[in-house]
Amino acid sequence: MIQKIKGTMDILPEQTPLFRYIEQVMREEAEKYGFGEIRTPTFENTALFVRGVGDTTDVVQKEMYTFADRDENRSISLRPEGTASVVRALLENGRHVGAMPQKFYYIINCFRHEAPQAGRSREFFQFGTETFGAAAPAADANAIGLAAAVFRRLGLTSVRLHLNSIGCAECRPAYRKALTEYYGAHIGELCDTCHTRLAQNPLRLLDCKNPSCAALASAAPRTVDYLCPACREHFETLCSLLDAMGISYTVDPSIVRGLDYYTRTVFEFIAEGIAAQSTVCGGGRYDGLVESLGGPSLPGIGFAMGLTRVIMAMEQAGTASVALPHPRLYIAPLCPAAVPTAYALAERLRAAGSSCECDMMDRSLKAQMKYAGKIGAEYTLILGEEEIASGRAQLRNMREGTQEEVALEGFTLPC
Ligand code: HAM
Repeated sequence: MIQKIKGTMDILPEQTPLFRYIEQVMREEAEKYGFGEIRTPTFENTALFVRGVGDTTDVVQKEMYTFADRDENRSISLRPEGTASVVRALLENGRHVGAMPQKFYYIINCFRHEAPQAGRSREFFQFGTETFGAAAPAADANAIGLAAAVFRRLGLTSVRLHLNSIGCAECRPAYRKALTEYYGAHIGELCDTCHTRLAQNPLRLLDCKNPSCAALASAAPRTVDYLCPACREHFETLCSLLDAMGISYTVDPSIVRGLDYYTRTVFEFIAEGIAAQSTVCGGGRYDGLVESLGGPSLPGIGFAMGLTRVIMAMEQAGTASVALPHPRLYIAPLCPAAVPTAYALAERLRAAGSSCECDMMDRSLKAQMKYAGKIGAEYTLILGEEEIASGRAQLRNMREGTQEEVALEGFTLPC
């Protein structure tokens, strides 16, 4: 038997109502905050992610699904995240010259060749938002406020916001120098990839998953100690805005993020205890990304949350149960002659807005009633030769176990 690819998942009809509920909350909250939905292609030119996400990141170096296109000598990749594609779409559709700020949200599948474990898969789902054109800390607070609102509505009160600033082009050189010196003194403890990264981009050593590199990262110099006055002020203003909005946070210098485009604010929402992968949302400011992808100098800020991790957090919080859909009526024809009447009635009731199922397997009444119970039908209507001849049938209320006689002509379900 051919099986699904490792790290992918089937989401079955019993599970989709929870996904749809969560997606609905995400859409409603994003739209309350003035974000419009954007849909971009599942695959893009590989160069977009190499330039956007960064060629020294784990995502680009180790995790992208990249292949040659069939009809041109071109490399394409399945999207490992949404931000780079949204920036491309912003520029390609001329939205960078539109009224600012431009605010987008998306619910997408992403692909990363990572080692699968609880909360980490190779195809996964993200709700993300991107805001362009707003350099002030208020844009950071607005994005964080939206993420916090989604968690609140999903009953995730114990998800904690961890906040940091990783500075800008101004403060980066001094910080890079401090990092290079620190890691240079421990060069023998670094993995092979980090040896190369040390020369190319020492910041990437901070999120290497190799145990020996991760141990070094915990004692490495911290970005907050190297911020220039403008970055410090940005960070302090953001903190006071979050205080005013009643959003609690922990300043956490260990948050550096694994993608290259971030500047200044970076943040993660963490759901302690769900699994080793407890970051349910990650984001930050990316003031240089639009320019590096060929656009004007335009600031940006955004985040993405992983849907399966959100579900794990909801399961832990006991807020993951949603009602499964069920038909209002099940019609049980008892003989072939009753089938056309049953199907005509079902069509009429559906057209009037009721969900309605009808036997399609010529089963016995006993088997049909068992099935009607299993699918949770609210009512059943039994149609035999006698009922068709008299134009009257028994409507059974499955919850209450009561029965009443109804006329088939003009029949409608009780409200
Ligand atoms: P990220 O931190 O790579 O950021 O991913 C965001 C979230 O997606 C994570 O916090 C996690 O919940 C979920 N996630 C990531 N990888 C996996 C995986 N393999 N399996 C399951 N869930 C996963 C970004 O993607 C940025 N584009 C976020 C952003 C938007 N920054 C600015 N704008």
